[in-house]
Amino acid sequence: MSSTVTAAREDSPDYSSEEPTSEYTSFQSTSPTSSDARGVDYYIPASLPSASPAPSVISLSESLYQSSFRQAYDRLVNNYSDLYHLPADDEEIERLDMQHLLFTSAMGPLPPMAEVLADDGSPKAALDLGCGSGSWLYDVANEYPHCLTVGVDLVPVTRLDLPRNARMEVDDINLGLEHFYDQFDVVHARLISLGIKDYAGLIDQVSRVVRSRGVIAFTESNYLVYDANKQVMDVTSPDQTVSAIAVLYHHIVRSVRKRGANIDAASLLHRWIGQHNAYEDVVYRDIWLPTSPFLPPDAEDAHRLNFIGELLRQDLRSFLKSVRVLLLSSGMPEFEVDELRGRAWKELETMQPPMWAKVQSVYARRKPKQ
Ligand SMILES: C[S@@+](CC[C@H](N)C(=O)[O-])C[C@H]1O[C@@H](n2cnc3c(N)ncnc32)[C@H](O)[C@@H]1O
Repeated sequence: MSSTVTAAREDSPDYSSEEPTSEYTSFQSTSPTSSDARGVDYYIPASLPSASPAPSVISLSESLYQSSFRQAYDRLVNNYSDLYHLPADDEEIERLDMQHLLFTSAMGPLPPMAEVLADDGSPKAALDLGCGSGSWLYDVANEYPHCLTVGVDLVPVTRLDLPRNARMEVDDINLGLEHFYDQFDVVHARLISLGIKDYAGLIDQVSRVVRSRGVIAFTESNYLVYDANKQVMDVTSPDQTVSAIAVLYHHIVRSVRKRGANIDAASLLHRWIGQHNAYEDVVYRDIWLPTSPFLPPDAEDAHRLNFIGELLRQDLRSFLKSVRVLLLSSGMPEFEVDELRGRAWKELETMQPPMWAKVQSVYARRKPKQ
């Protein structure tokens, strides 16, 4: 199962000036980013999988589009993977767009990317695994117009503002990446562990996807919450002062683990990549994120960190809604989920207790291939 939802190859027709026809799925989106281009109904041009050397372009039919989603409680989730169980609707896409701003503010550009994607006359390509709203793809495609950018996700995400050098494909990464071997100079993956069965195996697959001296970049959350001193918060204490956000994260980890996904990937990324014989120049980074803008103005780097804290606070408000589906599906009683969410919401509003989250990130270069 793989289909491209935004075609941008040389051999694909230019859709930018066409009106939607009955061949194309048309739907209303509330996502501000995806309505930029024309502010009208959306349509989904689609082509065959990238496995084909010169894909012909077909439409993604209404029924194929509809069959990508199913209802779970009050949200839409993807219909292909039993592992990944966060919503896949417009509300989630908006959350991911905002989260992208949070990550670009907190992490800055990926250091080796400018060198690897420099326009030196050879064809360049970048791949985003689990591309979500497509915002990383959008940025890279715009910054490197000579570079083909491809995003893969479980659901078709349609944004008409994607440049012509970007396209998205619908596929389950767990099924393998053979059709991408030796095609990319950059492979990026961020916050996909909730949908990955064998993350170490994925890192191995990526070593075949990325070209010689290309760069890979993986970033994952460890789904732990830290106190003001950056110590992991204990969620097992019967003490009523235990943070509801920390308890919710604890339940998220349990639910995801029960589904069989690699929720522990964040802390293992460095080992998996560092010990893999295909990679070199491995760089590990911890990125600390305040969960609200709680830093006093005279604290070091307070202005930037409080900006990030405000973004994460907004992201978490929305995430607390998103994880409801996951937790209810795992059998957690509704009253318990909602009581915890209510307390978590209050913690975000009052910024009490002050808390940090951490993402773990590794980038590396592919050793020259023989
Ligand atoms: C939390 S979102 C992150 C999106 C994006 N990487 C970002 O950082 O904004 C996780 C995304 O990964 C996708 N995903 C999870 N498991 C996947 C899989 N096995 N194959 C393809 N996409 C997957 C989900 O559908 C979702 O869009």
